Amino acid sequence: MLRKIGILTSGGDSPGMNAAIRAVTRSALTKGIEVVGIRDGYRGLVEGNYENFTSSSVSETMSRGGTILGSARLPEFSEEAVMMKGVEQLKTAGIDALVVIGGDGTYRGADALTKKGVNCIALPGTIDNDIEGTDATIGFDTALTTIVECVDKLRDTSNSHHRCSVVEVMGNRCGDLAIYSGISCGAEILITPETGYDEEAVLEKLRYLEKKGKNHAIVIVSENVCDVKSLAQKITNVTGFSGTATILGHIQRGGSPTPVDRVLASRMGAKAVDLLVEGVGGHCVCIKNNTITSMPISECVSLPRSSRKEFYRLFDKLV
Ligand code: F6P
Repeated sequence: MLRKIGILTSGGDSPGMNAAIRAVTRSALTKGIEVVGIRDGYRGLVEGNYENFTSSSVSETMSRGGTILGSARLPEFSEEAVMMKGVEQLKTAGIDALVVIGGDGTYRGADALTKKGVNCIALPGTIDNDIEGTDATIGFDTALTTIVECVDKLRDTSNSHHRCSVVEVMGNRCGDLAIYSGISCGAEILITPETGYDEEAVLEKLRYLEKKGKNHAIVIVSENVCDVKSLAQKITNVTGFSGTATILGHIQRGGSPTPVDRVLASRMGAKAVDLLVEGVGGHCVCIKNNTITSMPISECVSLPRSSRKEFYRLFDKLV
């Protein structure tokens, strides 16, 4: 019999986490299950930083970005002693099960905790869209919308000044934010973990676009693939464009979630509670063909990365 559940957000925050917290809280309370908000991810879990939640604890949170619970990264949580301290804290607080929201590191923590006897359900909360087994993660749509708004603005000014804007986007080894924004913004060049980086090929393509009469160009670059500042300098030095670098940075993680993210987070949050009530643990919630389902976390984290070839082929056709 499930009496009390905890909820936490861990890793990088993402817009829509609050909608998920709200959905978990309200659907659990409706079923007569108590809810405890755990502050600052696994760190708060280990330190016993807990607060009893009521329905009004999550009022007015749907439209807010970030996470009302706070978040943290705690790599030490994979150490047995640290995790067991957390398990003890949960027992003392009478918490039977957990919902955790975050990326793959958060998932691994939830799987390990389930193996220690605390049923956990994980929700994909990350702007990177780098969780396999789900068509979308909570926050991806909002971050993409932010990037598209920014790049559209850069295009206006780069058009007026014969510039080439080199824009770095986040993604943590996943090119989805780059390829989706590249297609949405009509970028000329993409540099992602999937494409790799060939500086000479990029410069050659820009010279070719110039010859074709292009007045400006947008290059979207996934973080950690190349140095956007030196690429922009090189563009200024060896092409007719003036290169400018823009690193969008954490602005991509903030802001009010889009309706798509709000609905996704609400559906996933409610599903997490249903699963815990059924006695399921060690699962993560996914959306597949607009249906909310779940799968074992261990299966999810070992899935190979799905191909984005169709997206890259489309991008090439549209330049
Ligand atoms: O996972 C989300 C993310 O924003 C990644 O895109 C990025 O690589 C990382 O987190 C940045 O982390 P931090 O907020 O710790 O700088």
